[in-house]
Amino acid sequence: MLKIAIQKSGRLYEDSIKLLKECGIQLNNGNKQLKTVADNFPLEVYFLRDDDIPQYVFDAVADVGIVGENVLLEKNKDIDLVYRLGFGKCRLSIAVPKSMQYNSIKDLEGLKIASTYSNILQKYLDEKKSNAEIHEISGSVEIAPGIGLADAICDLVSSGSTLFTNGLKEVEVILRFRSSVDS
Ligand code: PRP
Ligand code: ZN
Repeated sequence: MLKIAIQKSGRLYEDSIKLLKECGIQLNNGNKQLKTVADNFPLEVYFLRDDDIPQYVFDAVADVGIVGENVLLEKNKDIDLVYRLGFGKCRLSIAVPKSMQYNSIKDLEGLKIASTYSNILQKYLDEKKSNAEIHEISGSVEIAPGIGLADAICDLVSSGSTLFTNGLKEVEVILRFRSSVDS
């Protein structure tokens, strides 16, 4: 039985399910089960936090996973990127409250940035010789400035609507993740 790990909710969920359907695989997890077996194919599907997927694949608990390159890069596990599926295009950016005067990365000196991408962000700050401090959290990053947890955030931006809704503006793009279908 082949085991595949996909995101249980979030931006990749719908496209991952759609891809399996287009392959002719019938799933039946109506009740939000976190593990399901396809009706017509020897395939077991695990619904996981995307951040955990590289570890599951590394440990061979899952044979393959569908996950963003941002997560692959952050987790830095010894696993292979075998194919780019062509969805989930996004970028990793730093954002600050709309009201903040921002001209360059220097404006973040001594300030706190909340992120789930501490490895990638630290590398970027080192390259820019910034001493901004990283506050690592595991989700709901965009509310951090609004509740006084941090001065800025570093998170994925796709449509930009999450930033907008939370009164933030994008000020630095750290990485762009393309979505071409080649490997
Ligand atoms: C990402 C990210 C943002 C959102 C940005 O979440 O954490 O919250 O997407 O998208 P937008 O610019 O279109 O609003 P994701 O779906 O990857 O879920 P996760 O962070 O819980 O893994
Ligand atoms: Zn995630």
